Amino acid sequence: MKTLNLRLPTHEYDIHIGRDLLHQLELIRPHLTSEVMIVTNDTIAPIYLSAVQSVLADSVPRLHSVVLPDGEMHKTLDVLNQIYTALLEHNFSRRCTLIALGGGVIGDMTGYAAASYQRGVKFIQMPTTLLSQVDSSVGGKTGVNHALGKNMIGAFKQPELVLIDTKTLNTLPDREFAAGLAEVLKYGLIADADFFAWLEQHWTDLLERDETLLTEAIYRSCALKAAVVIEDETEQGRRAILNLGHTFGHAIETFTGYGQWLHGEAVATGLLMATYMSALLGDVPHTLVERLNTLLLQAGLPIQSPEGMTRDDYIALMARDKKVDAGQLRLVLLKDLGHAIVTGEFPVETLYQTIDHYQS
Ligand code: NAD
Ligand code: GLY
Repeated sequence: MKTLNLRLPTHEYDIHIGRDLLHQLELIRPHLTSEVMIVTNDTIAPIYLSAVQSVLADSVPRLHSVVLPDGEMHKTLDVLNQIYTALLEHNFSRRCTLIALGGGVIGDMTGYAAASYQRGVKFIQMPTTLLSQVDSSVGGKTGVNHALGKNMIGAFKQPELVLIDTKTLNTLPDREFAAGLAEVLKYGLIADADFFAWLEQHWTDLLERDETLLTEAIYRSCALKAAVVIEDETEQGRRAILNLGHTFGHAIETFTGYGQWLHGEAVATGLLMATYMSALLGDVPHTLVERLNTLLLQAGLPIQSPEGMTRDDYIALMARDKKVDAGQLRLVLLKDLGHAIVTGEFPVETLYQTIDHYQS
């Protein structure tokens, strides 16, 4: 097992990464209270819920679970209400603990429920997708979507513990696995050129889900994310670099309707567009675009915009991005491999050229 500690000024927590961790009560026990609600969905529940319940049963007098419908289209205030209802039906108090057992959708919704139920209760992340293990379970961003924009309702709420059980990846569908790899590539691009080269070197084995390499990739991704979060927990500046490719990606997700393209797939195309735009601006070589293109293709990730998505669609949807400041669109771009910046300083023609280049 590998462990990272994320230490913020007012809160710190461990991120444990290893095989079979969901069964290791001694890691969870220090964070348990007498009332625990496991939040999961109807895909994950049949595979992992009873195992987690039986690990906790003897230690938690009031243990309950709530099973939400699976899917990004259910990441809404309406479905979130089911968590509050379950908590209230069981008379859970402010001393309860929520456990998010699932991917990023479950993690984001459970975290937001924890931030808001009775003005705030504790929660634990047990991420079960690669994407949630390398990204969404770490750093405290929580929330739900609105029909007019992704993740538009939310709060910062840090967990008490992140328990990454790499064995859960064995049941993850290929498409979801590849989507997680897009976020892994992101860390190399924004913060660590050596990690990007390491990923290139081991890409074939990572695609085969080699467990040792995967554990290393998850550990390095979490470490890179934690370092950025420690510097800027509430995204006053630097944290925005974690959104490389996401302004394009969120536009794609909203255009296609939540759930058509996976988040990581939209991020994959977004990473390519941001890297291409950085190359047009002369900050990275075009060979980097080709290297990234090769990795995405090998992983079966999309490398073009959705059919029918025009320049106007992008511009309209990107205008709603959270990085828009006083009406000015700001993008995360690369100054070099391993060095990202947030900037509003780019010729709009370069943005148009990028969008046009990736039209299908
Ligand atoms: P997801 O939560 O929808 O999970 C993907 C699919 O895999 C679902 O059908 C799920 O039921 C299934 N699944 C999960 N674990 C499984 C397992 N072990 N075996 C079999 N099936 C399994 O998607 P995701 O990619 O994990 O997360 C995407 C979400 O995360 C988006 O809503 C995105 O906005 C959010 N996100 C949040 C942050 C953050 O910082 N909070 C960062 C990145 C992404
Ligand atoms: N996924 C972006 C962030 O956590 O800031």
